[in-house]
Amino acid sequence: MKSRLLDYIECLYCHSSLNLTDIVKEDQEIMSGNLVCEKCQRKFPIINGIPRLLPDNLSLDKQETALGFGYSWKAFSHIDPIYEQQFLDWIKPVNKEFFKDKLILDAGCGKGRHCWCSARFEAKEIIGIDLSEAVEVAFLNNRQSANVHIIQADIYNLPFPKQFDYIYSVGVLHHLPDPKGGFLSLIKVLNQGGAISAWVYGRENNWWIIYFLNPIRKNITSKMPRVLLQAFSWSLTFFILYPLVKFIYRPINLLFPNLAKYLFYNDYLFYISKLNFRDIYSIVLDHLIAPTAFYLRQEEFEEWFKLAKLGKVEINWHNRNSWKGLGISS
Ligand SMILES: C[S@@+](CC[C@H](N)C(=O)[O-])C[C@H]1O[C@@H](n2cnc3c(N)ncnc32)[C@H](O)[C@@H]1O
Ligand SMILES: [Zn+2]
Repeated sequence: MKSRLLDYIECLYCHSSLNLTDIVKEDQEIMSGNLVCEKCQRKFPIINGIPRLLPDNLSLDKQETALGFGYSWKAFSHIDPIYEQQFLDWIKPVNKEFFKDKLILDAGCGKGRHCWCSARFEAKEIIGIDLSEAVEVAFLNNRQSANVHIIQADIYNLPFPKQFDYIYSVGVLHHLPDPKGGFLSLIKVLNQGGAISAWVYGRENNWWIIYFLNPIRKNITSKMPRVLLQAFSWSLTFFILYPLVKFIYRPINLLFPNLAKYLFYNDYLFYISKLNFRDIYSIVLDHLIAPTAFYLRQEEFEEWFKLAKLGKVEINWHNRNSWKGLGISS
């Protein structure tokens, strides 16, 4: 933790300032110590350089979600330059230039790949939060960036005042027990005139996931011993998904684009065909490990932006299987 993070955080219970005690520093980072609320005296530890600003009682489903993603991001901790374009596709129409000098919140940062991109887009400060132990990976992946801060925190209990110029949440809200509640919690810390981007799974076109894959994910794979699940995900990738996208979808799309549009789930499968084996394997594990996943209709997603009274709302299809939205706080 960099000491100037104190300017941006507050007690998640009484919203008062936090003070540092018992700190041990390594270069610019406070590697251990405590954050103590100056009013209610609650104490939050800093462990391995990361402030752990978590509420006392996390529901069981949140704990299970955090365990799953903590495992999956530790297994796939790498950063690949291709993440930059992927990130921009998820937050489109926001572009790189938009980040310059903004105070940014990455809500559910996972291994911190988008914090890493935001730092390159010259944001003023980027604060990445995640509920899971993935924060350990995010911290290491961004250790070299002077303007990235990683915190272990819960989207429903944010340790911030209203201050952010831009908030993005990529692939997170549909894994919350109440996705709309999570979105509205983020709005509370968005500055007036600030922007928010979210990307969520769509219900439309995903009937095969909803009716076939979801029951398997919910009842079997998310509960499987992790090592077994990893081996299963590897096999699915190696024997089915990887050859399918690399040797069927990719060549057909490149050589016969008119024919490709008749292929099942083509937009998405062609999109991921540019990824390497490791990232496709990571997507498979990511889908099978999550205990909670909602698939949202366009109207439901639009409703969040209306409830939050956001202006200039733009909702777009992403690969014809998910929704991305942008809104400005008025
Ligand atoms: C599919 S991952 C996406 C990570 C990252 N946004 C990315 O695209 O690389 C979903 C992330 O949301 C986090 N998450 C789930 N529930 C959360 C909550 N209540 N508060 C904060 N993060 C949460 C998980 O731990 C996980 O890292
Ligand atoms: Zn307090």
